[in-house]
Amino acid sequence: MVRNFYITGDETRNIMVEIERIRTYVERLDEHIEGGIPKGSVSLICGMPGCMKSSLAYSILYHNAINEGRHGLYITLEQSISDLKQHMASLNMETETENLMIVDYNIIEEEAKSDMRFETNWMKRVKNYVEDMKKRDERLELVVIDSLNALYSLTMVTNPRKEIYYLFKGLKDIGVTSFLVSEMAPDEKKFSRYGVEEFIADAIIHLDLARKEGPIPELERYLCVVKMRSTHHDLQYFPLMYEGNHFVIYTKKELEL
Ligand SMILES: Nc1ncnc2c1ncn2[C@@H]1O[C@H](COP(=O)(O)OP(=O)(O)OP(=O)(O)O)[C@@H](O)[C@H]1O
Ligand SMILES: [Mg+2]
Repeated sequence: MVRNFYITGDETRNIMVEIERIRTYVERLDEHIEGGIPKGSVSLICGMPGCMKSSLAYSILYHNAINEGRHGLYITLEQSISDLKQHMASLNMETETENLMIVDYNIIEEEAKSDMRFETNWMKRVKNYVEDMKKRDERLELVVIDSLNALYSLTMVTNPRKEIYYLFKGLKDIGVTSFLVSEMAPDEKKFSRYGVEEFIADAIIHLDLARKEGPIPELERYLCVVKMRSTHHDLQYFPLMYEGNHFVIYTKKELEL
């Protein structure tokens, strides 16, 4: 477990702030973000189609489950459970892992039907679902919603800033660390659908695909921590690879060797 301590306050009053961190298990990344992502935070994992947003989100839950026994919940609203499992298996990650539960639209819909609150708004439905899961399993720590865009398409978002604020706040109040997948159109500058999510989120992990020119141009993968509150972090776009069963970033130092 990674913990950082900070001293804040004025000359008369020092307050010790302790930050527990969740490791990403992206090789070399954690050492560039003070050991991991602050526990209890809400992070956006964003990027264009195929940049491995779902794979990164799943790999954070998977490696935390198998290495530290942290309980995770992966909500897939984009892909079916079987498609998601097939993809993760092709990346050498197990999909029947104890401590890691995958649920989809149908499971949440069924749960909502039997809920006294009978909530029809999907933003609230998903928040209620996570809350119920946390009540059933108090060890639940990590939650992925894949994707925010799919969630928005299930409901009428009339006041994005307010509704998104309450979703993010709700997840924090439940006490989980969340990773929200956010789709970006190629050449899009905003990290999210409404452009407000990046201001409300505590962290933004941007996955990018850039064209490398040459006789045969090819796309290269990059990862950048654009924002992470309470964290000194690098702003480099690190080259990103998937090796074996995990992600690896390369720093300038490694590339010069
Ligand atoms: N071993 C592998 N098996 C399958 N796909 C792989 C493998 N290694 C890399 N990939 C890449 O993973 C990509 C899909 O990853 P993932 O589904 O996580 O992306 P995504 O950003 O979530 O995509 P989308 O925007 O469609 O949801 C494929 O386009 C492929 O380039
Ligand atoms: Mg995806």
